[in-house]
Amino acid sequence: MKVGVVGLGSMGSGIAQLAIEAGFETVGREVDLARAESARDTIAHFLTRKVEKGQLEQDRCDGALSRLALTTELDSLADCDVVIEAAFEDLAVKHELFRALEDVVRDDAVLATNTSALSVTEIASVLARPERAVGMHFFNPAPLMPLVEIVRAERTSEAVCDVAFDLGTQLGKTPIRCLDTPGFVVNRVLIPLLNDCVRVLDEAGVTPEALDAGMQHGAGWPMGPCALLDLVGLDVHVHASEALYEKLREPRMAPPPRLVRLALAGKLGRKSGEGFYTY
Ligand code: CAA
Repeated sequence: MKVGVVGLGSMGSGIAQLAIEAGFETVGREVDLARAESARDTIAHFLTRKVEKGQLEQDRCDGALSRLALTTELDSLADCDVVIEAAFEDLAVKHELFRALEDVVRDDAVLATNTSALSVTEIASVLARPERAVGMHFFNPAPLMPLVEIVRAERTSEAVCDVAFDLGTQLGKTPIRCLDTPGFVVNRVLIPLLNDCVRVLDEAGVTPEALDAGMQHGAGWPMGPCALLDLVGLDVHVHASEALYEKLREPRMAPPPRLVRLALAGKLGRKSGEGFYTY
């Protein structure tokens, strides 16, 4: 099987890493070569760390990296069996990509989207064959988080869901099947929960450090909510919250003003060097 990944940001590069580690020839597409090469450097860094820690043999690391081809052209994805789109969370961008992808791939190719907050059904609505579209929603950081949600849109065929589910398994993930509802399964629960955590900062007068310690040591979270928001990206979280609030109209879905202020100030978390914490 040949895999295509469109968009090599933090999610796309993580997905491409999983694909090459699992033995798939993989084509990663970015809008310019500098971004594509930077994604390959990131993947090489994480694979090298695995070698250094004795989790991966050097020849397997080299083999994985040799399976990654970079491109700026969607035409280079023509012979992919599955293309996973992990581009910017914007419906117009995804529509343009899905239209263009359908023009170049084979009739039986599966088009998957890693969207977290948009409707897979709506993304697929521009396709001549919407039954080939499916959600494959990975979690951040994709190489480390075991879950992938296999999202069945209104017109997704059973066979396409099965291909996505099997691919998720071959990538070493635990896939779960769900319907195309706002937030799918995990974000439907996690987004309002993280918003509550931010509201508690002001209500209970706690610092981010204290709240994080509270949720780690009192609720068993692997990392605290403020550290997690910094990891996910405050802009990404605010955007997803707004999208879910728009669809569900539940007050807890709306992003707390404190979070919106940080995002507007460019304090986006790890990627900008500052969020709740400084990096
Ligand atoms: N990509 C690839 N490899 C990575 C990586 C990344 N982004 N980040 C870290 N690694 C590698 C590193 O090489 C690291 O080792 P070194 O530091 O020695 O180089 C190795 O993984 C282990 O990293 P950690 O020591 O940080 O691992 P950990 O045991 O502390 O676990 C964690 C890290 C898995 C992130 C854990 O803290 C965790 O489970 N946190 C919760 C994350 C979570 O909830 N994610 C979901 C976010 S919500 C979402 O994603 C939905 C959405 O739609 C936005």
